[in-house]
Amino acid sequence: MARKPLVVGNWKMQTSVEEALHLSRGILHGLQERKPQIDVAICPPLPWIVPVEAGLGRSQLLQLGAQDASPGLYGAQTGHVSLGQLRPHIQYLIAGHSERRLAGESHQAINAKVLDALKRGITPILCVGEFVPLYSEKRKRGRPTKLEAESNISMQLRRALRDVSPTVISKLVVAYEPVWAIGTGNAASPEYASLMIRKLRRTLTRIAGKRRADKIRILYGGSVTAKNAPEYAIAKGIDGALVGGASLDTDEFVEIATAFGQ
Ligand code: PGA
Repeated sequence: MARKPLVVGNWKMQTSVEEALHLSRGILHGLQERKPQIDVAICPPLPWIVPVEAGLGRSQLLQLGAQDASPGLYGAQTGHVSLGQLRPHIQYLIAGHSERRLAGESHQAINAKVLDALKRGITPILCVGEFVPLYSEKRKRGRPTKLEAESNISMQLRRALRDVSPTVISKLVVAYEPVWAIGTGNAASPEYASLMIRKLRRTLTRIAGKRRADKIRILYGGSVTAKNAPEYAIAKGIDGALVGGASLDTDEFVEIATAFGQ
């Protein structure tokens, strides 16, 4: 089953509006030059989404996503921005990023976001990744075992996908992001990422059946750089990357996208 690769930049709480405009235009130019045959998206901080969209013009080469948003349209929820409000401006929503899970986001809240995004035609990029804090205190070491990791990520996946209709599930994107690899420079090896992604696809098959599960793109995220991207691009079952730090450098990010578009 050929799945079109997807590379997504998660800018987190970085950039001024000027930097956001400069970076997004630079990425677009780079993509226009290198023409990778993949989908590419950036997720700037919420208030920069609309100016960045205007700065990019009509190009479909670079799409936009939100790093987080609340389900619904309008409501008396101070400080929230809804998926309904963002809908005209975004194609993707990052849901369940570990930085939000660590700040207390529940499985239930992630599930509500995934359901609402799908309802509105926004593609959720559902992040799952084994949580070191669950194990490190007990074990006094950096990583869970493969078996622990596998059961932790399958549980996250099942809880986030509760009540998602099998008829829309193929639109979903999953990002496998081991927490110990995020922002640490300690990337998972392509073999390890491939193995975990295979487990996730097995869980998706149980949930939605093989035909539908085979259409779901599963990305790897965690210290992806221009240097290591080619290894993930050729690794079995990895359909793209969710990129944090390296997405804030135009050349680095375009190089990563190009690696997946070969
Ligand atoms: P990183 O972040 O690429 O800086 O490790 C990835 C992420 O948080 O999605």
